[in-house]
Amino acid sequence: MIGSANGTRIGITGLGTCVPDTVMTNDDLARYVDTSDEWIVERTGIHERRIAAADQALSDIALPAAHEALADAGVSGRDLDLVIVATVTPDMMFPTTSAILANELGAQDAGAYDLLAGCTGFMYAIAQAYGMLAGGLARRALVVGGDVLSKILDWTDRSTLVLFGDGAGAVVMEPVAYGGFLGFELGADGAGGEHLWLPGSGSRRFDDADSFVKMNGREVFRFATRVMVSSATAILEQCGRSVDDVDVYVPHQANKRIIDHALAKLGIPEEKTVVNVDRYGNTSSGSIPLALADARADGRLRAGELVLMTGMGAGLTWGSALVEWSAANGGGNG
Ligand code: ACO
Repeated sequence: MIGSANGTRIGITGLGTCVPDTVMTNDDLARYVDTSDEWIVERTGIHERRIAAADQALSDIALPAAHEALADAGVSGRDLDLVIVATVTPDMMFPTTSAILANELGAQDAGAYDLLAGCTGFMYAIAQAYGMLAGGLARRALVVGGDVLSKILDWTDRSTLVLFGDGAGAVVMEPVAYGGFLGFELGADGAGGEHLWLPGSGSRRFDDADSFVKMNGREVFRFATRVMVSSATAILEQCGRSVDDVDVYVPHQANKRIIDHALAKLGIPEEKTVVNVDRYGNTSSGSIPLALADARADGRLRAGELVLMTGMGAGLTWGSALVEWSAANGGGNG
């Protein structure tokens, strides 16, 4: 699906993140599997990632990210009427992590649900929040993207273990006086789903004890390099913008080689691109909000700037959004 904004200005007015304290380097991982810092850096660009503690679940990192986003927007949990958590690693299937979060935040009047779209979850979630806000169903939404993928990795499988890390980011979305989202493009290719899957994770194979991520890296790489380009191109065209109009490019942080490929094909210069995969690895649904926060910390998200975000992941799914940033420090109502 693809669509332009309907004229209602909805933007991001608050941004917050949280990652676990524990840093795990490539050398640390070499204690678990037969790998090396040299291989991981050359093939992925990843140097280190954050790993949740044994007793740390998604809501433990999502909550601080949410508090930060709310404070940034200058609102409290009571002011929310929608909470969406995009994740493939909720605390448990139910109660949903969004309901847990809404309760912790004091968002008594909010509708709350979790959303599953692999690493593209955050992109799907902001598109849904946009639709509900622009359609008048909600006034202010909290959208969290976060995962603790370390919990569902096979710590003996070097082909997946080295790629992922844990982290969460949150945004507040609401009407803004200027700027805001221009459009979204979302897609899914279920036929390719077999290339990235979690066998013992649902009603199909509930008795399968294998609940670790399985991935055909080469196929996912091929898919990723294709959709990162096609999705970005489609949303720019839909919104009547060109690559040259993009001020800040925020790609999903899966692998530096995938990002480099997208840059070369799209013609986006490196200096406009946010890269933090070296420090966090692939944090799945946390990836894009963590990158947004890094861009802002570097002074790169200024009011009026055009931000292009593209994610992709399990499903296989992909999604892009184009947003004109509302204000230098998140508050977009001024
Ligand atoms: N350390 C050392 N050697 C390794 C490792 C490792 N961690 N992993 C694989 N190898 C070996 C393989 O066994 C293979 O050895 P062989 O030639 O003796 O058979 C060799 O390295 C090359 O393996 P390839 O799989 O061909 O390596 P490739 O260059 O394709 O890189 C990678 C692998 C990094 C996984 C790449 O395919 C990739 O990035 N794919 C996309 C993955 C991705 O982005 N997934 C997530 C996206 S969706 C989401 O975000 C959830």
